[in-house]
Amino acid sequence: MIQLESVTKRYGDTLAVNALTMAVADGEVCVLIGPSGCGKTTTLRMINRLVEATTGRILINGEDARRSRPELLRRTIGYAIQSVGLFPHMTVEQNIAVVPSILGWDHSRITRRVQDLLQLVGLDAPTYMSKYPAQLSGGEAQRVGVARALAADPPILLMDEPFGAVDPLTRERLQQQFLGIQEKLKKTVVLVTHDLDEAVRLADRVAVMKEGQLVQYDTPEALLSTPADSFVRSFVGADRALKRISRIAVTTLMKPAGSLRRVETGFSGEVPHSQRYAWVIDDAGRLLGWVDTHREHEDESFYQIDTADIEHLTVPESASAREALSRMLGQGVRSIPVIDSSQHLLGEVTLRDIEEVTAE
Ligand SMILES: Nc1ncnc2c1ncn2[C@@H]1O[C@H](COP(=O)(O)OP(=O)(O)OP(=O)(O)O)[C@@H](O)[C@H]1O
Ligand SMILES: [Mg+2]
Repeated sequence: MIQLESVTKRYGDTLAVNALTMAVADGEVCVLIGPSGCGKTTTLRMINRLVEATTGRILINGEDARRSRPELLRRTIGYAIQSVGLFPHMTVEQNIAVVPSILGWDHSRITRRVQDLLQLVGLDAPTYMSKYPAQLSGGEAQRVGVARALAADPPILLMDEPFGAVDPLTRERLQQQFLGIQEKLKKTVVLVTHDLDEAVRLADRVAVMKEGQLVQYDTPEALLSTPADSFVRSFVGADRALKRISRIAVTTLMKPAGSLRRVETGFSGEVPHSQRYAWVIDDAGRLLGWVDTHREHEDESFYQIDTADIEHLTVPESASAREALSRMLGQGVRSIPVIDSSQHLLGEVTLRDIEEVTAE
């Protein structure tokens, strides 16, 4: 648990952080967001005492951070900053090993830890251990940075724009990977970003800052549905409904899908006539394709199952409502089946289901 109690940082006349009070619960991801210069980095650096607060208190697990030695604090707190954080004259292995070495771990334990961490962030250890930072791409360097922050298994992780310097696709992959790691390790994370989509995607709670002050501290859902004031409203933007549905899993909107089962002689099962297309499943409940129910049953072609583009006309159960929506819009359909990884038909989501949640 991290608690900030009326924390202020002054640089001469500049109030970098102004009476900030907030708490981050164990195992939660708190994302700090706000315009450039609003005090995000300063806040992060006060938590591990790279910067000392002018007034106010910071408690780490109930203990005043000022009472622990800064070195000790940095062992319980991993810190990942934008790629510049890697030591250029050290290999990837040496970079990740910095804190474990300070802690006096023996050589074989460190090597094992480095290998495990590289695997965790999705880098092949034999290939990457002996490389130097200059030989890495931006995304690889950031992953090494995250591995280094995790090296001594600190319960708290501070990340300052950790995925800032990469293209949108790599960024999305890194975010996905981060969520996977977080699910396993359950660190208490404070992460800074400029990117609202990233905040909505990664955060349990988002702290919106403006000129050193906290303007709203809420779940992504609450932030998007009820912005606290006009600043937050303009900050989250006109497409906040779209952002909000990216937090909603299709499985929560999904309803049972009317389907036909393919049997030797044709199909069995009933589909309401109002539904133009019927999904067709096999005996095991796996989706085979669909048929157009408006075709005449007597017509031979009725029994031809359309299987084209099945990948683009379904969504996996892990998808968000936003992904389902963009797929429906892209394919020009009003409903889409949800399948599991072995293609079992789980249900379907309609355009109307999504309209209903955005209208709330
Ligand atoms: N060492 C310093 N000396 C003087 N002023 C500073 C110092 N560090 C930060 N500031 C000022 O404090 C304010 C907050 O800076 P901070 O780096 O925390 O912003 P930020 O929200 O991280 O911005 P960005 O999004 O651009 O990284 C800014 O006005 C900045 O100029
Ligand atoms: Mg900053």
